[in-house]
Amino acid sequence: MKEIKIKKNCFKISCIGAGYVGGPTMAVIADKCPHIQVYVLDLNKNRIKDWNSENPKDFPVFEPGLEEIILRTRGKNLFFTTDIEENISDSDMVFLSVNTPTKTSGIGSGRASDLRWIEKCARQVADASNGHTIVIEKSTLPVRTASTIKTILNSPSKKEDNKGKSFAVLSNPEFLAEGTAINDLENPDRVLIGGEDEKAIETLAGIYKNWVDDKKIIRTNLWSSELSKLTANAFLAQRITSINSVAAICEATGADVNEVSLAIGTDTRIGNKFLKSGPGFGGSCFKKDILNLVYLCRFFGLENISNYWESVVNLNSWNQNRITEIVVNKLFGTLAEKKIVLLGFAFKANTNDTRESSAITISKNLLIEGADLKIHDPQVSEKQISIELEKVLNNEVNTSFESEFSKFSFEKVDDIYDAFIDADAIIVVTEWEEYSKLDWEKISRLMRHPAWVFDTRSIVNKEEVLKTNINLWNIGIG
Ligand code: NAD
Ligand code: UGA
Repeated sequence: MKEIKIKKNCFKISCIGAGYVGGPTMAVIADKCPHIQVYVLDLNKNRIKDWNSENPKDFPVFEPGLEEIILRTRGKNLFFTTDIEENISDSDMVFLSVNTPTKTSGIGSGRASDLRWIEKCARQVADASNGHTIVIEKSTLPVRTASTIKTILNSPSKKEDNKGKSFAVLSNPEFLAEGTAINDLENPDRVLIGGEDEKAIETLAGIYKNWVDDKKIIRTNLWSSELSKLTANAFLAQRITSINSVAAICEATGADVNEVSLAIGTDTRIGNKFLKSGPGFGGSCFKKDILNLVYLCRFFGLENISNYWESVVNLNSWNQNRITEIVVNKLFGTLAEKKIVLLGFAFKANTNDTRESSAITISKNLLIEGADLKIHDPQVSEKQISIELEKVLNNEVNTSFESEFSKFSFEKVDDIYDAFIDADAIIVVTEWEEYSKLDWEKISRLMRHPAWVFDTRSIVNKEEVLKTNINLWNIGIG
């Protein structure tokens, strides 16, 4: 087995990709391992500028607890930079933490992962590295991507550049959830390392062992590790879809989904987590990772299994769309000239991330129905809301709403109570804590009646709403 030599006096890690995973993950490693130099690299100059900002409000990722960590490590052993090649060249370990979205054209369009960014990274490492480098898949990837990465690493653009270079490739998927990323990284349920090179595996395990018990570090082969990440997300998403399907049955029968969740969740074989019904799962990963699994199953000729997983994504879309149908029905079949307040735009609370948020689908549907939309979110910027809605509405305009784009009426509001003036309905889409503490007496005086609140997260104070003359619809209850 090759001896791993540390290239500088100090062990140096680089991470390509300064996003939702690269930023927080590297910040926690730097915090827990002051003896390691950690460089977070990105080709997006603005992202790096924002990570280096003096004002933590500019950081590109909002996560509770992240700001404090960055402020105590940045400039000491944590650095954000666009100098990619230079930092790869003397790194002992390079994490690949770039985006792996669903392909939007060509073979596998709509299902397969677009691996162009991961391939580019592998080429960057192949060309810029020196000596022995441990390359770590942190991105979520299709099974057997490590084989592609190895091939690229061993084929630098110029053959003579290969001299003295060697690589070990590991899979180390990330299981953090947004909004709880720091706690998830500091106290992980497990750390998963897949690989063949034991020395490399133990070098990576050695980093985690600075704060994670060795018993929680699972070592597997490469393909099991890659597949475990896709499987974990597929299981979690499937559970949400299951409870959302039960919510619809509850609404039809008079059962209460929260009571059903409690009743089944106390069975230790089922467990009580991820049983909260809602508007449908969002976030950048569940949908894309299941679709990736769907694609892989089809690729390997497993058509029935592929259909099984695809149904989870289809049912989730159905759930997102049914919220609008309920709102339209309750508001006498038309939203034209009605003011609707959407509470929350992030895909879940405690994050500023809007990727695949159910709020996007719900907003689009409401706008197509002619609603005048006021959107509130404590962390998502007006610009981000506009970007998401223009993207999704432009698709609609192109397909069926020619030249009507200007008719869509939406704006972000900062003063939540101002937004309620003359509103016909309020829809709670994200479970921000502040929405559980609203003054319904005051809101009732501000709204136009008959007024409705649609709670897709079961977080509003029902007793307080019921004391007013506002009508309440609650997911999984009706
Ligand atoms: P992201 O889009 O927030 O960040 C990716 C970053 O990589 C971007 O800033 C982009 O500019 C940069 N990048 C792309 N190619 C580059 C290159 N060649 N050189 C330098 N920089 C480059 O993505 P993310 O949410 O951090 O996700 C990254 C990966 O982690 C994905 O595979 C995702 O599935 C996985 N993952 C995400 C989460 C999550 O909560 N977001 C959790 C677990 C795993
Ligand atoms: C998820 C997984 O939980 C992480 O383990 C994984 O690392 C990550 O995806 C990833 O690979 O990107 P994340 O998407 O950040 O994390 O957030 P979750 O807490 O899983 O929530 C996903 C969606 O499901 C949100 O829209 C949330 O509101 C919804 N959800 C979650 C429910 O509707 N009900 C629940 O009980 C739980």
